[in-house]
Amino acid sequence: MKKVILAYSGGLDTSCIIPWLKDRDYDPIAFIADVGQGSDFGKIKKKALQSGASKVYCLNLQKEFIQNYVFPALKAGALYENKYVLACALSRPLIAKHQVLIAKKENADAIAHGCTGKGNDQVRFEVTARLMNPKIQILAPVRNWEFKTREQEMDYAKLKKVPVDVTKKSPYSIDINIYGRAIECGVLEDPWNEPPEDIYNMTLDPTKAPNKPTYVEIDFVRGIPKKVNGKTLSELELVKQLNQMGGKNAVGRMDMIENRLVGIKSREIYENPAGEILHKALNDLESLVIDRESMNFKRMISQKYSELTYNGLWETPLKSQLDAYLEKLHERSTGCIRLKLYKGTCQVVGRKSKFSRYQEKMATYGEGDVFDQSLAEGFIKLWGTPYL
Ligand code: ARG
Repeated sequence: MKKVILAYSGGLDTSCIIPWLKDRDYDPIAFIADVGQGSDFGKIKKKALQSGASKVYCLNLQKEFIQNYVFPALKAGALYENKYVLACALSRPLIAKHQVLIAKKENADAIAHGCTGKGNDQVRFEVTARLMNPKIQILAPVRNWEFKTREQEMDYAKLKKVPVDVTKKSPYSIDINIYGRAIECGVLEDPWNEPPEDIYNMTLDPTKAPNKPTYVEIDFVRGIPKKVNGKTLSELELVKQLNQMGGKNAVGRMDMIENRLVGIKSREIYENPAGEILHKALNDLESLVIDRESMNFKRMISQKYSELTYNGLWETPLKSQLDAYLEKLHERSTGCIRLKLYKGTCQVVGRKSKFSRYQEKMATYGEGDVFDQSLAEGFIKLWGTPYL
């Protein structure tokens, strides 16, 4: 029997994949990636074994996720279509990487995932896996198996003694990790429908948020957030704390129609409190410490980086070249940003840095002005000359 490493979530699809693969002479090993989705991993492990997996791996990848995926994308200012912090998209290359590593350890020739043929995730998993091991065989049963309805799949599950959750299935498709949540399907598929309140669970409704603002100070070192309110935190603690502070103040909700790689538009709701706070904060720090040309140039990098991430091209030469550029760009991005979180808004209200390029003596309209206004006349004449 050929060993296959299955990215396993514990849901109905990936559970049915286990006996489905066995029917086809594969020996499925389940791999559970803990990226902070907060599931009961003990229960999921048991379910994998009950469904027929010969072995289960469960790896806590949270720290690696924040350090090597979330923070680099933050440094890049990568927001897909100017909005989405890419929480789900960033987790896929990480999971695929570990899947391939386990395959190597287990001497397996194949990996499998439970993505459908309509989404972005299949691309992210498969491109990453192939770049890491061009010979790996990739199985995506959900894309082409025989079950046309959920009922047929349930019948198959019962037949194969796959434990079936009796609680009614949520009408939504939800992806969760430590950096955020994505919610789609159900009533959300009509873009005119306002998202019902019950889809959210990281953020409060603005009308229920406190009447007093919360102020938060974030210290960055070379573009990486290190402290919250003066206290040094691990990357995990930092993201968790900002998620909490933001969520309590209704910060981090996003309702968008996005362009999927496979060509369709889809409607997705996101909750990313820490993501929104960190992107706003770092962006503001950049405006203080980075010169004009570099700032303008970075905008192109942000867009390209977000597209590479969204489109499954994380493990490509260009992505790592851009990382090197961003290392250099952020040499001066050390400083403190003060933000005000209030009923769904997140505003920067103060910033300071020892590398600040802001010079009060040049900017001031008050006393101590050192800007030589007499130079302006000649400058303007030359500036407009090419167009005479
Ligand atoms: N649209 C997002 C992306 O492509 C999230 C995909 C998963 N969404 C979900 N609700 N299950 O990265």
